[in-house]
Amino acid sequence: MTVSSPHGGVLINRIDLQADVHHILKEIEIDRVALSDLELLANGAYSPLDGFMNSEDYESVLRRMRVADGTLWSIPITLPVDEKIAETIKIGDKVRLMYRGNAYGVIHVTELYSPNKRVEASYVFGTTDRNHPGVNKLFERPNIYVAGPITLIRRPKKEFPEYHFDPIETREKFQQLGWKTIVGFQTRNPVHRAHEYIQKVALEIVDGLFLNPLVGETKSDDIPADLRMKSYEALLNEFYPNDRVWLATFSAAMRYAGPREAIFHAIVRKNFGCTHFIVGRDHAGVGDYYGTYEAQQLISQYEEELGIQIFKFEHSFYCKACGNMASARTCPHNQEEHIILSGTKVREMLKKGEFPPVQFSRPEVIKVLINRKKY
Ligand code: ADX
Repeated sequence: MTVSSPHGGVLINRIDLQADVHHILKEIEIDRVALSDLELLANGAYSPLDGFMNSEDYESVLRRMRVADGTLWSIPITLPVDEKIAETIKIGDKVRLMYRGNAYGVIHVTELYSPNKRVEASYVFGTTDRNHPGVNKLFERPNIYVAGPITLIRRPKKEFPEYHFDPIETREKFQQLGWKTIVGFQTRNPVHRAHEYIQKVALEIVDGLFLNPLVGETKSDDIPADLRMKSYEALLNEFYPNDRVWLATFSAAMRYAGPREAIFHAIVRKNFGCTHFIVGRDHAGVGDYYGTYEAQQLISQYEEELGIQIFKFEHSFYCKACGNMASARTCPHNQEEHIILSGTKVREMLKKGEFPPVQFSRPEVIKVLINRKKY
């Protein structure tokens, strides 16, 4: 196997930084989520999508997890605008996509439509509960969706420039490195021992680890991306073989859509060139909205068609009796022997300046996270 084919067969490229857009007078102000989607549509991370979804693709994604032509796709990629703005736009218009005073893209409008957000929430998140951060975000965003192919005309500011790559670059680098099998790892957290364990078990089998933390918008109590990046650097410097791991950011917003987001995450990593992808416990989950293995169960149904192999890991932990990291597949001891801490508990400890047990998280990681004002 070499780097995997892009989803749908062709890597999309809709970047034209020389485009002259001065004659385009209409403008839409977009939010941070749409800005990150714009870049990921343009650089092919969302291949085969080449723009914000029209109602046919959108409905089809909701109801059958496929765009209208039948290609597997699990999360709607839409551009919401206010009703008042929508009234100024008509089909056929070219409209500049603005963020804080700069034009980043152009959309060629093919449709404007009103989504039923309750239906969208039920399909995508499995709930309409506003306490769910993804559902809340969906309802907070404006109510008319503008559809059409896009062009990226200006790069959004790269928050971590040395770690920001387009799929075309990652694919080429994988070839240069001679990695034939590459496992992608999605995370919105610091790398704790359980993450490290499953990454390294995977690394026993494949050539390279593509550590690909999500650095787009996350909910307010997740650990900020800049701190996480520092913690990844600290960990990689000391505990990972440099020539077998590549740290690169994934600039999308977190959706917290659990099972459906696991499929989306896998497709995007396939577009970056990964041949394998890790789905562990409660992937992209939040609270108790999804079962521990629901993401694995859903993705299993599509594995062959996905074109990226899924490494499924059971809930992993440090077992005192075993004296090492383990999961129910490898450990015979009962739960009292297991060191398991919730994300909430860890955040509380960090706020108080306490170190979680070394068996849960390496002190090198905690030192970066602890006692930070913004945390
Ligand atoms: S998220 O992006 O999926 O929400 P998180 O950082 O919590 O991020 O998890 C990253 C990956 O590691 C996911 O595939 C998740 O399922 C897996 N994972 C996290 N903790 C564990 C654990 N204790 N055991 C097994 N897999 C885990």
